[in-house]
Order: sequence, then C-alpha cells, then structure tokens
Amino acid sequence: MSNESLANLLKEERRFPPPAELATHANVTAAAYEQAAADRLGFWAEQAKRLSWETAPTQTLDWSDAPFAKWFADGRLNVAYNCVDRHVEAGLGDRIALYFEGEPGDTRALTYADLQREVCKAANALTELGVRAGDRVAIYMPMIPETVIAMLACARLGAPHSVVFGGFSADALATRIEDADAQVVITADGGYRRGKPGALKPAVDEAVARVDRVRHVLVVRRTGQPLEEAGGTWHDSRDVWWHDLVDRQSDQHTPEAFDAEHPLFILYTSGTTGKPKGILHTTGGYLTQAAYTHHAVFDLKPETDVYWCTADVGWVTGHSYITYGPLANGATEVLYEGTPDTPHQGRWWEIVQKYGVTLLYTAPTAIRACMKWGDDIPAKFDLSSLRVLGSVGEPINPEAWMWYRNHIGAGTAPIVDTWWQTETGAMMLSPLPGVTETKPGSAQLPLPGIAATVVDDDAREVPDGAGGYLVLTEPWPSMLRTIWGDDQRYIDTYWSRFEGKYFAGDGAKKDDDGDIWLLGRVDDVMLVSGHNISTTEVESSLVSHPKVAEAAVVGATDPQTTQAICAFVILRGGADAETSDVDASDAGLVEELRAHVAKQLGPIAKPKRIMPVAELPKTRSGKIMRRLLRDVAENRDLGDVTTLTDASVMELIQAKLPTAA
Ligand code: WT7
Repeated sequence: MSNESLANLLKEERRFPPPAELATHANVTAAAYEQAAADRLGFWAEQAKRLSWETAPTQTLDWSDAPFAKWFADGRLNVAYNCVDRHVEAGLGDRIALYFEGEPGDTRALTYADLQREVCKAANALTELGVRAGDRVAIYMPMIPETVIAMLACARLGAPHSVVFGGFSADALATRIEDADAQVVITADGGYRRGKPGALKPAVDEAVARVDRVRHVLVVRRTGQPLEEAGGTWHDSRDVWWHDLVDRQSDQHTPEAFDAEHPLFILYTSGTTGKPKGILHTTGGYLTQAAYTHHAVFDLKPETDVYWCTADVGWVTGHSYITYGPLANGATEVLYEGTPDTPHQGRWWEIVQKYGVTLLYTAPTAIRACMKWGDDIPAKFDLSSLRVLGSVGEPINPEAWMWYRNHIGAGTAPIVDTWWQTETGAMMLSPLPGVTETKPGSAQLPLPGIAATVVDDDAREVPDGAGGYLVLTEPWPSMLRTIWGDDQRYIDTYWSRFEGKYFAGDGAKKDDDGDIWLLGRVDDVMLVSGHNISTTEVESSLVSHPKVAEAAVVGATDPQTTQAICAFVILRGGADAETSDVDASDAGLVEELRAHVAKQLGPIAKPKRIMPVAELPKTRSGKIMRRLLRDVAENRDLGDVTTLTDASVMELIQAKLPTAA
C-alpha cells in the first residue's frame, strides 16, 4: 500500500438506536466500556470469574516475553467441565444444550445431562485408544452432535484437537495431520449435503496412507453408506466404529484440571501464500473471552434464548460460537447439518420458526444469497422470535445489512457486525446490542477490554475521517499464542509490520465519529491513479443498485492508472445470469452501474470494466477468492483452485469472458 491513506469514499448516514426494551434489560451496558478503560486487566480478571476454576488465577497477564502472552497463568481449569458438568451440578441437567437438525430432517435433542454422559464416554474411549494430555487429535466431521462431543472429549483430556473442515480434500487433511503430528483421527462415514450423503472416510483413508503415524481412526456412522462403494477401505487394526467403542464406555469420567496456558486446539488458516498456519489457542484466556463476548454481544439470556450459529464447526466461528462460548454460558442452541437451500430455499427460516430461535449468527455471503432468492421466502415464516442478529466473516455491505434487519429482523432486531479472526480467537470489534447506535456496514468499535485502532504506514494513529490499517494495540485473553511449531513465523506475520502492535492484515477507516469500518484484506486494496481504493466499498456500491445481487471487485494491472477497477457482478433474480453475456444487451446496464458507482463514491472509483457472471469463486468459508478473479482480469492462467467450493465456477467465468482485458 502506498503512503496515501485509503480514500474515504462511502458516506452512510443511517443510524439505528438499540430497541428500548433490549437496552433496559441488557446484559452489558455502557458502564462496561468505562470500567474496562479504567482498568483493562482488572476487567478481564473479573470476566475470568465467569468460569469455574479448580485453582483461581492470581495473575492476569504476563507480557514479559512479548509477543508471547500468558493469561491467568497460575490458574487451573478444565474446559469440558466448564462447558458441561458445572451446568448439571447447578441443577440445569434437563436444559437442552443442542437441538440437532439433520439435513434429511432427522432430529435429536441433547440436554446438558445427556451431553455430560456422552462427553464422558467419548473421553473414556479416547483414553482407551491411548490418547493422553498433550496428544493432538484430528477431527474431520460433518455437523453432527458427535463433532461437538469429540471436541469436548479432547478438551476434557487436555488433548488439543485440530478440526479440519469436512469439505477439505484428503490432501489438505494429510498436511494438517502431519503438521500437528496427530496420531488419532475422529471422523464419520459421511454427512448430508444438498440432499445426498457425501463420504468422508475415504478421504481419511487416503490422507492417513500418506502420513505414517496415525494409530487409530474412530468413525461415527452417520449416513450408513457402504464404505467400499464410496472408495474407502476398512482397516481392522486401525479403524474402530464410534458405536462399538464409545457406547460401551462408562458415562462417568473425572475431569482433570489443566494450566490456563495448556493448549486447547490448533486450527489451520490457509492464508494466501506458503503452507497453512496452525493457529494455537490455549485454555483459560480463550474460554474467558469466548464466554464473555457471547454473553455481551448476543445479550444471551440462557434461560429463555435459543441461539443458532450457522457456521461450520470446522471454522473458528464454530469453535468459539458453537462449541465453547455458548456451552460455557449454558446456552440452548441449534446445530444444523446442511445447506440453507435444501430441500428448499426457506430451510433456515423454517428452522428459526420451528425452534423459536432468538439469536442468529451468520455470514454476509449467506445473507446475500438469501437476498438473491427473494424477499417472499423468509416472509412465509414466523421469524418474530428473533431479537439479535449477528454477522461475521467479511465486511457486510450496507444493502445486505438493511435487508437482514428488515426482512429477517422485522426492522427492529439490532445487527451486531462482529470483526475478529481465527487468530484473535473471539470477537474483537462489534456493536453491543443494548448500547450502540448501529450503522449499516460498520463493526464500529472495540469491545470492552479490547484495544484497537487504525494507523497509517508509519504506525501513527489516523485522525477521524481517514483510512489505514487495523491494529490491535494491547494483548487480549483469547489471542493466538503462536503458530504451531513456528514461533518466528508468528512474530514475522503478526508483530513485525508495526512495532509492538498486532497487524490484522485488514484495511480500515475511521468515520467522523471515530467509528471503525472494515475495508477488506489489505491485499485487496486497489491502487488507482495514486489513490488507495477499497474493493469492499466499490462492491457495496454495486450491491446497492437494485439489479445487482453480488459483486466482487479486483484491481487489474493497467498501464495508465497502475491498477484499473474490474467488477464481476451477479444480477438479481429476474436477469437470467446463465444467459447474460457481456454484449450489446448488457451494455446499457453496465453503463448504468458504472455511473451509479461514480455518483455514490466519486469518479475515481468508477469501474473500468463490469462483467456480469453467474457465480463467483468462493472458498468454503464463503470468502470471495479475488486472487483468481485478478488472474482472469489480467488474462493469466489460474492459480491454485483447490480451496474453492466449486472449481467449475472459474471455467464458467472464463468461458464467458473471451475478451477479458
Ligand atoms: C478475516 C478473518 C472471524 C471468524 C470468521 C473468519 C474478515 C471477519 C469481519 C467483519 C469485516 C471481517 C477479516 C478478517 N472478517 N469478520 N465483521 N467485518 N471483515 O475468520 O477466516 O480467520 O478470517 O475475515 O478480513 O481478517 P478468518
């Protein structure tokens, strides 16, 4: 990025105060900001008391070996005890922990007492397989209760898990098993997606064949597909069915307390270059911040709320806001196995209605998909139970934000746009639903106890109204502790760009009130005629046009302007994307869209080219792969497409653009 700050283009004037009723009874009020500002460490020491410690910590933060942090270092606790047993001991054993909804329509409800028995049995089973504290266990599963049970069983034994998203290939799985040196893998025969069973075990067979240290594979029977037909093989000496091993175990297990800094899990992030980074999270600080933020940001009332996070457990969102945060808080939550459009595009809203979901946490990409399917679909369901709506994963365009509020939240439910990362472990920036006057498209401000700001190239804090880089200026309890096996890479990646500050890799700007707006990864910022322009802002402008459902913007090398803005757009419903082509019939629309952006953001942000497409290339976590679109816009051969949900999307896009650049 050049020395010039990001152009501050988008002006968003809409404001939404918290609903009075919610504000009156909110878990967290404005006082939390004052308290944390006066004594940040004291604030976190206070939050740590939400957990049950076997030995309460007397120290809060040890930063003497920065950037290697220790939080609550002399405290000892067991995470599974905190997420399960203590609720049963408190007399809440009959409360539903998980409402499981399988994609084919099968359901299960597990109370906290059920969960305790299942976690104990699984912990005993893993012990029988030789798993000891400190051993790594890989988990490669569909979204079923056993996945949460397996994670908690590992946590109970102090065996760090490495969950690998079930959509990843055998190759990706093998790399992750090897890097963490996991010797036990927990998987399932398969899971249901888009109306049919998809196999998982064959990928495990392939991955395990490539690494030589896996001793056992524990397999849940979910789909019942014949393994050989799916291309897998059963190895008697290595493989064991969950129902054979776990079901015969005792449902009693005494949890052992571990040091607050004992590793809890490793989760790999792909990043744009190099091998995946194993992000390491530990016990006490992680659970403290996961529990606090879930309580504060969703205003969780565990007695009455029904919470649902639609993320996959394979992502950090699933770790912190399906497994650990909600269960530490004794919440009742929905776990859904499948896709939002199976068997019909109203499936999510049907689930909200069925369980009376009150708190919903999802991603902008899903919201935009629902927008594209049409307003009439959610309108068929009773969504009146919803009272707080969360968003995570990428900047949410103001247009999608308004749609979410109006069509899902009845025009009243506050939206909490939560900014965080795999590395931060838990939410960092977000409005508070009972406090903040929200602005469509902005994560707004650091949560109580979090220190973040926006700086320029020279690490100076930018004034209100200016843009730059988002940095975290103080350590936080759920921060990553290192990259597994590579301390130097941890320092280089996060702590070297700005002295003493954590660089998140995101561009951001402050508005005139000092509120923070995320502008996407800095790799995605374009340099056009000496101006830094955010891909996010141009995308938001395009999506605000009634004919555009989704947009992805990239900067393509340009001899005159350094980079030229190229936009790929999916048109809304009526315009048939399959047949739409960049020809005379669209020329009018393309001009209309260019003029629309120029009017909203200024002529400098006007896309040089706009290309209607049927689909956009996305990773399995829903992030647009701009790198591939840049390849197309610059007429290059495509780079690695293995993390795409659907690799054929790129062929579709390329086939449509014979005249690219
Ligand atoms: C990156 C982290 C956090 C769990 C899911 C993603 C982007 C995330 C927001 C938001 C703008 C966001 C950032 C961040 N991001 N949430 N609310 N507004 N951008 O975890 O895969 O580690 O990705 O996602 O670019 O750095 P992740």
